[in-house]
Amino acid sequence: MTDTKTLIDDSQRYIANTYSRYPLVLVRGQGCKVWSSDGREYLDFVAGLAVCNLGHCHPKVVQAIHDQSRKLLHVSNFYHIEPQIELAKVLCENSFADRVFFCNSGAEANEAAIKLARKYAKDTGRAERFEIITMERSFHGRTMATLSATGQEKFRKGFDPLLPGFRYVPFNDIEGVLRAVTPHTCAIMVEPIQGEGGVNCPSDGYLRDLRELCREEKILLIFDEVQVGMGRTGKLFAHEHDGVFPDIMTLAKSLAGGVPIGAMLAAEEVAKSLTPGTHASTFGGNPLATAAGLAALTALLEDDLLGNCTRVGAYFFKRLMDLKLKNPFIKEVRGRGLIIGMELGFEGSQIVIRCMEEGFLINCTMGNVLRFLPPLIVTHEEVDQLIEVMGRIFGECGEGA
Ligand SMILES: Cc1ncc(COP(=O)(O)O)c(C=O)c1O
Repeated sequence: MTDTKTLIDDSQRYIANTYSRYPLVLVRGQGCKVWSSDGREYLDFVAGLAVCNLGHCHPKVVQAIHDQSRKLLHVSNFYHIEPQIELAKVLCENSFADRVFFCNSGAEANEAAIKLARKYAKDTGRAERFEIITMERSFHGRTMATLSATGQEKFRKGFDPLLPGFRYVPFNDIEGVLRAVTPHTCAIMVEPIQGEGGVNCPSDGYLRDLRELCREEKILLIFDEVQVGMGRTGKLFAHEHDGVFPDIMTLAKSLAGGVPIGAMLAAEEVAKSLTPGTHASTFGGNPLATAAGLAALTALLEDDLLGNCTRVGAYFFKRLMDLKLKNPFIKEVRGRGLIIGMELGFEGSQIVIRCMEEGFLINCTMGNVLRFLPPLIVTHEEVDQLIEVMGRIFGECGEGA
């Protein structure tokens, strides 16, 4: 096996330099644990940034990949594809949606949603409507359209001219949305909890107000559930907490338990604007990805993962609040289920590195928000272990202050 130093040197030599990576090569994963090339074990509170909701290498997903890989890896969407049909059926049976368009990533799912919103406006005789309102601090992807939708200047910088037709308003500001609606608006696109933007939760009634506004203005509501869908908040989809339903929803990340996939779901009235030739993807709904997706979704629905997420999520939140009580530099703890953010009064990157040294993988977003996204199978004991280590590390911060 190639030694760790050579791997990292070759990574820096051959891989496009789009990530600042930690000097760690992860080679194996099981449940909440991952192992590095030098044999160290880590408890993973990143989970591929909300991809490995079932834990690493879930046996049902592994089995489905194994079985499908012996049957059929790929055929064109010119033909009907069995696992694709089955996954779409289970998704529709468990959501507001009537139809699913499959693709390969969150950005592609959002691209499809943006295209559909514009097409639906045209098909319903409102060709002048093409603008989409999105939120400041949102994140919708890195393709040109989804970058244009993303309400964070730092991601868009250097890529002008962007796609026209997006307006950004502050998250949780319904008046701001009202002011931004024009005769050109065709949709509002929002994450039910902002992930990359710092784990920002909707205030009470915000999503309901957006739904009402969309109904009044006859425009579409798009929920980007790429990060917070598939059980991450303790319900299958985050918007279920608020009892409101979108016209279009996008999914990706953990939908296929670690295999690349994306999906755009829509109600029939809107989905009917997608007719043969209007949109496509070679790999979208690929047999291998959708077989993995079907296994992952079935496990999520059958194995009480939502229950565990709610119980352990509440416990984790409380333990983080305990840390906040002891450490005045912790500004806020926020989140739902097992997407939790802890806002610090300083840069969080050193805390991430210190946790890694102690055998725990955590993430930091927006510079100062520690973000925790463990697999939904994480236990109280594993949470305790992280809290114990973080308590110690925060103690060191206090000493340095
Ligand atoms: C809410 C949200 N939308 C879209 C995306 C983009 O997904 P992908 O990286 O699969 O294109 C992300 C990725 O983090 C996300 O969090």
